[in-house]
Amino acid sequence: MTGFTVALLLVAVTAGLLRWRRPAWYWLTFGVTLAVLRVAVRYRSVMDACGLTVPPSRWRLALARAANRPVPGPRAPRILRLRPTRTGLVLRLGLRPGQDAFDVAASCDRLRHSFGMYGVTSRELRSGVVELRMTGYDVLKRVQMPAKLERTPTRVPVALREDGAVHYRDYRTVPHALTLGATKSGKSVYQRNLVTELAAQPVALVGIDCKQGVELYPLARRFSALADNADTAAELLDALVSRMEAVYQLIRAEQRITADVPDAEIAADIWDLPEHLRPVPIVLLVDEVAELALFNTREEEKRRDRIITALARLAQLGRAAGIYLEICGQRFGSELGKGITMLRAQLTGRTAHRVNDESSANMAFGDIAPDAVLAAIQISPDTPGVAVAGDSTGGWSRIRAPHTSLRKAVDACNRHAELTPELPELAAFRPVLPSLAPVPEPATETAPAVA
Ligand SMILES: Nc1ncnc2c1ncn2[C@@H]1O[C@H](COP(=O)(O)OP(=O)(O)O)[C@@H](O)[C@H]1O
Ligand SMILES: [Mg+2]
Repeated sequence: MTGFTVALLLVAVTAGLLRWRRPAWYWLTFGVTLAVLRVAVRYRSVMDACGLTVPPSRWRLALARAANRPVPGPRAPRILRLRPTRTGLVLRLGLRPGQDAFDVAASCDRLRHSFGMYGVTSRELRSGVVELRMTGYDVLKRVQMPAKLERTPTRVPVALREDGAVHYRDYRTVPHALTLGATKSGKSVYQRNLVTELAAQPVALVGIDCKQGVELYPLARRFSALADNADTAAELLDALVSRMEAVYQLIRAEQRITADVPDAEIAADIWDLPEHLRPVPIVLLVDEVAELALFNTREEEKRRDRIITALARLAQLGRAAGIYLEICGQRFGSELGKGITMLRAQLTGRTAHRVNDESSANMAFGDIAPDAVLAAIQISPDTPGVAVAGDSTGGWSRIRAPHTSLRKAVDACNRHAELTPELPELAAFRPVLPSLAPVPEPATETAPAVA
């Protein structure tokens, strides 16, 4: 008997320790079973308490009366599926007549407390079916990406979402993106993650880093072109615009619209070209974009206009030529001068890290999702890397990128250095790499002969 008590005590202590130090392991070992039991046992009473039940239908009442049975109680949404996941539970509900998805969405916080979960979000799958995604613990506290991730050349995983799903950066559906955030909020780490993922894909990376290149130069082996000051950036952007024009010429030459060419084979962007002709897609990463838009002198003002015009042209026309923009900055609003808001309107994908004021958050979400603005201001300074990101459905969610060290990013870039394409138009901006020749041993000094 005492043996059994000791074993029980040990299990309880282990569970407590795991829950405290390693919530992810706790979830996989104890948490998931307890949560499934809790949901199964409490389901009806919780739904009733949350006002998610409907009175029995007329024919049920009539049937009960005819058979002289007790009056049936109110009915909760049907559970269509209960699926445990790595981070929580997914519950699929079939709504009863008279209920709507908004009822469920409005009750998410109540459900979270009632089922003892960390987070609950809901979304409509199709009419009459709502999915509740519950997380068992704070998945953004220590981000661990799932082991199995989908990767294609233009779609890479970059962060974990609050509901445990993976946040992807998909260049085919969202060609250009803007990432805002106060200083030290995690923008560069986010960008570093992106570079680490893209390094393994057959894409060309081009970088503009006006912080004298401290963020991107260590990763130079995987970059086809880099600029570390505004003057070089202006020339680099002009070169990119000429490349874009050349790609359009190529697409036009390939179009050959005659009656016998099948519709599906008419090329309108690089992905329609046959593989052997297809130019390599380019991702242009810009860190601290405001540096490019600031000026003191007349000369610098001219340079600024040139840069903003080139960026706006790339944003407007770049997608079909396979040129994608990834712009990071602290603020990106009209106070940076003319052309900025027009450029911003072209940047579809929005991510806001912690910002200091509402107007900065408005630059990311004011024009698309006003409730995301509030969420971006509420991010705590203690959790750098947490951000609010718009998703493809027009909604938004909180995300956090894994904490990728510069060392890890450098290793990934060096490992895939041979994937770096040579772009003839940008050859002048190819970063000069320190030669990898082994450092010669310092000559051993021979002790002077004692006379
Ligand atoms: N996703 C993250 N997870 C954990 N820590 C992070 C994350 N992103 C950033 N940090 C921390 O915040 C610090 C500042 O991040 P950084 O990307 O350099 O900010 P920014 O470029 O916005 O000024 C980093 O040194 C890192 O310690
Ligand atoms: Mg930075």
